[in-house]
Formats: sequence, C-alpha cells, structure tokens
Amino acid sequence: MAVVAAAAGSAVGLGNIWRFPYELGQYGGAAFLILYVLFVVLLGAPIMLSEFAIGRLGQSDASGSFRKIDPRGKWWLIGVMGVVSAFLIMGFYSVVSGWTFEYIYQAFTNQFAGKDATTLASNFTEFSSDTVRPLLWTVIFMIIAASIILLGVKDGIERSTKFLMPLLLVIIIALGIRSVTLPGGIDGLRFLFQPDFSKINSSVILSAMGQAFFSLSLGMGCMITYGSYISKKNKLGHTVAEVTLLDTLVAVLAAVAIFPAAFSQGINPGQGPELVFITLPNVFSNLPGGQFWAILFFILLSVAALTSIISLMEVVVAYVTEEFKLKRVPATIGVVLAVLVFSTLSSLSFGVWREVHVFGMTFFDLFDNVTSKVLMPLGGLFIALFAGWVMPAKLLKREISNEGRLKLRFFNFYLMLIRYVAPLGILLVLLNQLGLGKWLGV
Ligand code: PHE
Repeated sequence: MAVVAAAAGSAVGLGNIWRFPYELGQYGGAAFLILYVLFVVLLGAPIMLSEFAIGRLGQSDASGSFRKIDPRGKWWLIGVMGVVSAFLIMGFYSVVSGWTFEYIYQAFTNQFAGKDATTLASNFTEFSSDTVRPLLWTVIFMIIAASIILLGVKDGIERSTKFLMPLLLVIIIALGIRSVTLPGGIDGLRFLFQPDFSKINSSVILSAMGQAFFSLSLGMGCMITYGSYISKKNKLGHTVAEVTLLDTLVAVLAAVAIFPAAFSQGINPGQGPELVFITLPNVFSNLPGGQFWAILFFILLSVAALTSIISLMEVVVAYVTEEFKLKRVPATIGVVLAVLVFSTLSSLSFGVWREVHVFGMTFFDLFDNVTSKVLMPLGGLFIALFAGWVMPAKLLKREISNEGRLKLRFFNFYLMLIRYVAPLGILLVLLNQLGLGKWLGV
C-alpha cells in the first residue's frame, strides 16, 4: 500500500497545480486539455503499467531492471537517460518548490491582503529575480527532501499522502467554487472547456504530450524504481488507473480554480510560470479567512512538491547505490550538491542571468523543455518498445496478472497500445515538431 501512495505522491505535484495550468494557458485552453487527456489515456496509462511491470519484474533500479530482464541488450541505457532526466528535472523543480516556501512565508505574514493582481505580479518578479532569497528556499527544500530520503520514512510519505492529498483536493475544490463565482469567472471556464481547434499546431501537440509524461512521472525510470518496491500482490492495473485518475483530477481542478480567477482579474492566461503565484494569492485576498486558506494551500502545495522531488531523488540515489555500490548517505549528499548547481542556474534565469540563453532558452526553460519535450517522450518510446517487443508477451502478462491469478480483460488492448500506438504516436509528434511532416508532405 505504501508504494501506491508514494506513486500517487510522485505524480501529483507542481506539475498539476503549477505547470499544467500555465502550459494550458499558453497553448490555447480547451484544445490543449483534450489533447492532454488523449495522451494520458493512450500513452500515459499503458507506459505507466509497463514501467511498473519492468520494475517489479526486474527488482532493481531504473537501469538495472532492464539488465535483469534482458542481460545482453543495451536497454539499460534507457535507465541512464532517465537518471539524467531526473537530474535536470530536479534542477528546475527544486526552484519552483523553493518558491512555494516563500509563499508559505508570505501567507503567514499576511502579505497578499488587499493587493491587486498588478501588485502581486510585481511582487513575484521582485522575489524571483532576487539572487539569494529564492536559492535559500531551494536549499532548505532540498535539505528537507534529502533528510526524508535518508531517514527512509516510507511510512511518513504514505501517511502524509493519504491524509494531505484529500485535504489538497478539498481546498482546490473550495478555491474553484470561489473562483468560478467571481464576476467574469465564466469566461475562464469557457477558455478551459470550449475548444478552439484552430489553436492546435505541432508545438501545442508536443507540449500536451510532454505535460502528460511530466505529470505522470513517466519516461525517466521513476515508476520503474517505485515498481521495484511494489508488492507482488498488488494489482498493477488498478494502481495505474487510480494514479492516473487522481493526477488528472487534480490538474483539471487546479485549472478550474485558476482560470476563472485569472479572467476575472484581467490576468493574461498565457502569463507563464508565475500564473498560479499571482492568481491564487489574489483569490485568497478576496476570500473570508483568506490568510488561513493561503497558508494551508501553500503548505499542501509544498508537500505535494516534496513527495514528487523525493521520487526524483530516489531514482538517482537508487541508481548510484545499486550500480556503484555507494552508501546511501554519501550518495544522497552528492546528488543534492550536484542538483544545487543546476538549481542555481535555473534560479538565476529569473534574475541576473535572464539574458543568458542556451539554444535560445534560459537555463530554467532549457531544463524544463529538454526533459518534458525530448528526454521523457524518448524514454517513454523506448520503454514501450521494450515492454511491447523485447519482453516476451507471456512474461509481461504473467507479471501484470500476478502469475495468472488476476483476470486481465484489457491485456490485448494494452499490448496493442504499447506495441503500436505509443511508439508511433510519440515518434509522429516528435517528427511533426521537427517539421518533418512538412517535408514528407503530410
Ligand atoms: N509528476 C511530478 C509532478 O507532476 C513531477 C515529476 C516528474 C516527478 C518526473 C517525478 C518524475 O509534479
């Protein structure tokens, strides 16, 4: 049971409440939402099931599990790529996690009260462009995450996820109700649910796919690592259904809380990474008992971020301890120190290094885009190929059906998804983005 909660804790995080709404806002609203849900169902769910199966069968880290199943092949390299992804993701995720700490502090000191959207926006810019303060929060955040990893408090994660996740849902729903009933809020709902298909282009499609991988923690070995901890009695298919549904629910509810409020306050929905940090404080400042809700919300958001970053750290720590026989303590400390180098680059992207660009992007955007739009989809592609074509179907079926004890109604459908739909789908989306579609005349 603990691991199921941990998988949900990994999936539900800043990806749902911070990244999903701002991507959706930038890429045109409802059309993005529809694509996103399609990717979650057709690619996300079957790839998650494959990762769980690979991990539980291989009984090793993200890379070692491939080697255990296919000792001769080079598939273990997928795991190495996953470890690299985990690093890069932590490199920007830790910064946004740090922001949630600042906002807990601001909520405690009642700094949202009576401020309008413009003031809240400039406050955010002032804070995020500072050199020291955001980094300090990031360091504190990483130390807490590392301590949890080192104390091995799986129970702690389980308990906090089981108790805090429902609470988070309740708050988001309450915020959603407040947001929808704000004057002009209905326009936000229209933006969210009334699709304008003319807004779809290759980057919208790629972003929706990347967001599906990111939000479900897929394509980088996280669910393989957690899969190796899942009990042989667990019904993997059920776990996938639960995690996927919960993750999608939280994302959609977060969007319902954010867009009506943004429209009501005249905030541009395509604002970018600061969207949630500007919109929701404004809702709190208009809510009876707003300070209380704000404190609670940002605490829960940071806990959600914590359980996600722990899963990222676990990918790297499990890999170095198992593959290089390092002890857990030095491994964890080493990982944190290395990540902080990337965090520094990301954090300064909002301030003094705003103008430093690599491939036309700031470090923050680079780490974000390279992982969600390149590495994770590629990882997912290879994981699907491995599960669909390298692992004998019988072996895969035996693992997912718990040695034949479970009746699997959807196995053939699942097999079709990972053999054909997922690999071809991912490939087409990537090629389409590269403009190859045009060359081929499709
Ligand atoms: N899924 C997490 C979120 O939505 C982020 C994450 C990505 C965690 C990859 C682990 C691995 O916040």
